[in-house]
Amino acid sequence: MSEAGTGAGGGGRASHDDAAGGGGRADHDDAAGGGASERPADPEAVRATLAAHGYLADEGLATAVFLALALDRPLLLEGQAGVGKTELAKVLAASTGGRLLRLQCYDGIDVAQAAYEWDYPRQLLHLRAAEARATAGGATLGTEVEDELYSERFLVRRPLLAALAGRPDQPAPVLLIDEIDRADDEFEAFLLEVLSDHAMTVPELGTVAATVPPVVVMTSNRTRDLHDALRRRCLYHWVEHPDFDREVAIVLRRAPAAGESLARQVSAAVDRMRGMGLRKPPGVAETIDWAVAVAALGRARLDTPTVDATLGVVVKDRDDADRVRHAGIGSLVDAALERAG
Ligand SMILES: Nc1ncnc2c1ncn2[C@@H]1O[C@H](COP(=O)(O)OP(=O)(O)O)[C@@H](O)[C@H]1O
Ligand SMILES: [Mg+2]
Repeated sequence: MSEAGTGAGGGGRASHDDAAGGGGRADHDDAAGGGASERPADPEAVRATLAAHGYLADEGLATAVFLALALDRPLLLEGQAGVGKTELAKVLAASTGGRLLRLQCYDGIDVAQAAYEWDYPRQLLHLRAAEARATAGGATLGTEVEDELYSERFLVRRPLLAALAGRPDQPAPVLLIDEIDRADDEFEAFLLEVLSDHAMTVPELGTVAATVPPVVVMTSNRTRDLHDALRRRCLYHWVEHPDFDREVAIVLRRAPAAGESLARQVSAAVDRMRGMGLRKPPGVAETIDWAVAVAALGRARLDTPTVDATLGVVVKDRDDADRVRHAGIGSLVDAALERAG
């Protein structure tokens, strides 16, 4: 197979011409330093930019993001479900203007879905047309047809390969490799080249290397341990649930209709639930949903019947719900109201 590519286009390095035409949205004039995206000056600048796009990061996370950008290293975010790992990558892309390429991992994910595949139906059509032309001319098919078949033209770029196609006049793409812990070991190994060299070997084409390194954010819910080889290539940050004040601010930001006092009560109740040793402690998304749900019922404050009726918005496991009820919804409400002030 590999000989097919050696003649095509005269080189192993794939050009990124396929992205032309689709681009054109970069209007940045700050291309100094090689990329169109301006690097933030310090962690505080990262925090402020994310906040301007609705994401409230603490100092640790802002520093990790700053360093990942400054050092051009992938950022591995681990933490429980709902602490804002995926959202961080989305907001980062929105704030830099970089194209977001999201790869949702799952058990059995393979190269064809993650990186690239060949457009088989179009290759077949091309081959038939070439055959027809050759037959009409009384000739046989030349080997150049095979080269054509395995050229960029028929390559379908999936997120990993698409992330290597950034252009110097545009903000760097943001590659989100989401829930890597769901993929298997083999896939993790496959990622190593992309992560350390910003390159990928496509056997039929050669090595495809990025001109603009993508910003890489990897997330894991820690359902299994990741390999050291993968960890070593990344900067690592463990994302905690936000503290009370930050969670209130997030709720107000995402669900302003809830109002300050309900946002405080809901955040306080959720914080307390997180200390109950639940199997699936509520994430920030649940806090936001809960505030929205209670407000939608026309209640301005938490009370026992309301919490009882809306518990399923925030606790999504039967044993957990039993545990919360067992501990007493009345006392949960009392404690939340007291803390909320
Ligand atoms: N720091 C934050 N600032 C703003 N919103 C947040 C923050 N953390 C979490 N969220 C909200 O919580 C939701 C769930 O977060 P998500 O990124 O999906 O969690 P994870 O990927 O860690 O499971 C997001 O859609 C977002 O609305
Ligand atoms: Mg996620």
